Amino acid sequence: MHTNKLVVVGAGHVGSYVLADAMKIGLFAEIGVIDILGNVAFGEALDQAQATALPYMSNIKVTSGGYEQCADADVIVVAAGPSVIRDPENPKAEPDRTLLTTTNCKVIREVMAGIVKHTTEAIVILITNPLDTMVYIAENEFGYPRGRIFGTGTMLDSARLRKVVADAYGIDPKSVTGFMMGEHGSTAFPVLSHVNVAGIPFAELDRHFEALGDIRSPETVKARVISAAYDVFNGKGWTNAGVAQSAVTMARAVLLDERSVFPACTTLRGQYGHDGDVALSMPCLLGREGIVKQLPVGLNAWEAEKLAESIAFIQATMRDAGT
Ligand code: 2OP
Repeated sequence: MHTNKLVVVGAGHVGSYVLADAMKIGLFAEIGVIDILGNVAFGEALDQAQATALPYMSNIKVTSGGYEQCADADVIVVAAGPSVIRDPENPKAEPDRTLLTTTNCKVIREVMAGIVKHTTEAIVILITNPLDTMVYIAENEFGYPRGRIFGTGTMLDSARLRKVVADAYGIDPKSVTGFMMGEHGSTAFPVLSHVNVAGIPFAELDRHFEALGDIRSPETVKARVISAAYDVFNGKGWTNAGVAQSAVTMARAVLLDERSVFPACTTLRGQYGHDGDVALSMPCLLGREGIVKQLPVGLNAWEAEKLAESIAFIQATMRDAGT
């Protein structure tokens, strides 16, 4: 009898949180862990296995090992590779983004080579940065069925957007509808023309709620959302909780065939005038087969300009990666 199985590739700060979140939602009967450091995968799996004896945990079979664990996986979450690379001689300098790109291109190609040896059925959800370039490589270099690979993209950026708007007006972030598009990174942009609270458009919120902060300009909102990641990064040196929850929420939408609409990163197939030359985030319908359809929402002039900037930035990163 088939039981729901997740495999987590990469058991570092992010992967270990993906594992922990997946254990708690209790949707997977089996979870496999893979890490380049076999002892780390073993330790993370054993730590969670021991916790299954606690009252509120499910009796999930947790294993560690190689890519053979992917053979019967329903979902594979990839959080392998470093999240930042700093010069050891000068740790306070800006992280080396080009070195991160070239390093993680190698990592993603190794991970995908391991996965395709055992499956082309599982839905693969990528987290590794620079995310959009990683998704482009994984989607387009391994002949994996279209739609079955996507990235968390601006799923977390969109949560941060809803939090920024909610905090500015003193409301529950879950009551804010809205999303970011484009790159998962500094060129992501808020689609404010579609942000609303109970149908009240973003531009009219201050007619209904006292504005606790000045966020009327799209550039201000964009800057606030982008800096939210760096605020966490500068606080603890990495980010993991939000992006792990994002990945597990998307994994649940796949496993339960929820047909949820989430911003996800995948290669454009003709949307916005781009066909196969870039991967980025836009609203997508997610179900058991992964990306069921991409939803190229209408953009106003500012948003269309930001999309073009984001595409140019992603394609420059792709050139750094030699893709
Ligand atoms: C984040 O946005 C760094 O991709 C990571 O939290």
